[in-house]
Amino acid sequence: MTTAKTADTRVETRSDKDRVVIFDTTLRDGEQCPGATMTHDEKLEVAALLDEMGVDVIEAGFPIASEGDFAAVQEIARRTKNAVVCGLSRAAPKDIDRCAEAIKPAARKRIHTFLSTSPVHMKYKLQKEPHEVYEMVIAQVTRARNYTDDVEWSAEDGTRTDHDFLCRCVEAAIKAGATTINIPDTVGYTVPEEYFALFAMLRERVPNADQAIFSAHCHDDLGMAVANSLAAARAGVRQIECTINGIGERAGNAALEEIVMAIKTRNDVLPFWTGIDATMLTRASKLVSAATSFPVQYNKAIVGRNAFAHESGIHQDGMLKNTQTYEIMTPESVGVKQTSLVMGKHSGRHAFQHKLEELGYKLSSNQLEDAFVRFKALADRKKHIYDEDIEALVDEEIAHEHDRIKLTSLTVIAGTRGPQSATLELDIDGRQQTVQATGNGPVDAIFNAIKAIVPHEAVLELYQVHAVTEGTDAQAEVSVRLAQDDYSVTSRGADPDTLVASAKAYLGALNKLMSKQSRSGEGRRRIHSMDVG
Ligand code: KIV
Ligand code: ZN
Repeated sequence: MTTAKTADTRVETRSDKDRVVIFDTTLRDGEQCPGATMTHDEKLEVAALLDEMGVDVIEAGFPIASEGDFAAVQEIARRTKNAVVCGLSRAAPKDIDRCAEAIKPAARKRIHTFLSTSPVHMKYKLQKEPHEVYEMVIAQVTRARNYTDDVEWSAEDGTRTDHDFLCRCVEAAIKAGATTINIPDTVGYTVPEEYFALFAMLRERVPNADQAIFSAHCHDDLGMAVANSLAAARAGVRQIECTINGIGERAGNAALEEIVMAIKTRNDVLPFWTGIDATMLTRASKLVSAATSFPVQYNKAIVGRNAFAHESGIHQDGMLKNTQTYEIMTPESVGVKQTSLVMGKHSGRHAFQHKLEELGYKLSSNQLEDAFVRFKALADRKKHIYDEDIEALVDEEIAHEHDRIKLTSLTVIAGTRGPQSATLELDIDGRQQTVQATGNGPVDAIFNAIKAIVPHEAVLELYQVHAVTEGTDAQAEVSVRLAQDDYSVTSRGADPDTLVASAKAYLGALNKLMSKQSRSGEGRRRIHSMDVG
């Protein structure tokens, strides 16, 4: 039993049997989706925040996948203070060994090893007979247990697996030493009633089911990932795998913030609890959005920009009379600070630093100095500076601190009479280079100029603009996604001038691609085809 004080000082008695373990896979399932690539430093920053907010298990990556993944998992293992650090591995012995090596420095470590069990996966993907898969389950869990007592086994495509075979595999995995059994809805196919029944069936039929914790891992292809995960909890599952902002393969994974707040807000029908500090959810959402450059949908539950905005007159009237009329949870409970008109060009360094602390940033003195200079420059150009402006500025500062290629200046000739042209000056590893290029419109001209100075084969997959705040002097935030070979990365740039923001976003993505490639095994070859000299 655990006694906890809630925000309204009610003393709540919680039973350990109702505690749902939050397993965050933002850095593995989230990061592996196209365009969500994070740099090494960004991964460390996200992991530190997950640890601070009370995530129980951090799935830090897939160590065999690349040198970069291995290095990130190892460093997260070294630095994490509270959470269990987990690495993913397939069934192959070398996968498991590599994973074990990466998580070795962790105070609390887990190997998560998986194998497909559905007929379609076994036949076409693995090209194995069920009896061979069954033997592989035993072998993979046994091997993982040589390295740690905390082993999770996943039946990939579990929701499309034959029940008798699933029961046999789960029983064998537990017997071989698995302490957590995950039944993923890999393809986002199940519905809440069915997922509930699946876990109820397993808990009833598998003889040693009480010796492991069952886990839910849901994808959102039919928009039911969160509902399915919560149905699983009602069926006795005590670990939920999820990601910040619901990022992940295809339509994404179950969103951590939605799971946590559904349990908190509807505790009458979902009588569970988690160790998450919900007031950090907004910060986590912003950090992951900044690191991946994946914008958060405006109407996204819990963390979307409009999640607590009341626009219609009837709603506003009700809210003024009593907030409970239209609000089932308060913005403060998820860490939303009321947007305020913060500062202007007369605000000093001290006020700026105070504001950053209020927004949850901890900057080094160099970062603070650079951010302050940029804040002053912005304040000269923009009358009202809001929290969102400062966040965009600081996120950009942190994301691009180590960039090799930086924008020095840009002049664009645009308008009805073409060709539009851009004169661009870049700082590349401390050397200045200037070029002029034309294009089919000003953005095309800028991107052609970048290509002229930094020849590369990356393909532009996405170009998106939105305003950070309101008003014609609002900063534009541009997202750019570039893809080359197996990699695709997204980056954002913010500036009151949309064209400058576009150049910053493109350069950000190029820098990210280079840093990703230089950390991978094949990096050297690819870097040469992206010659920055
Ligand atoms: O969706 C899935 O099946 C997975 C497994 C590797 C757990 O991500
Ligand atoms: Zn998954």
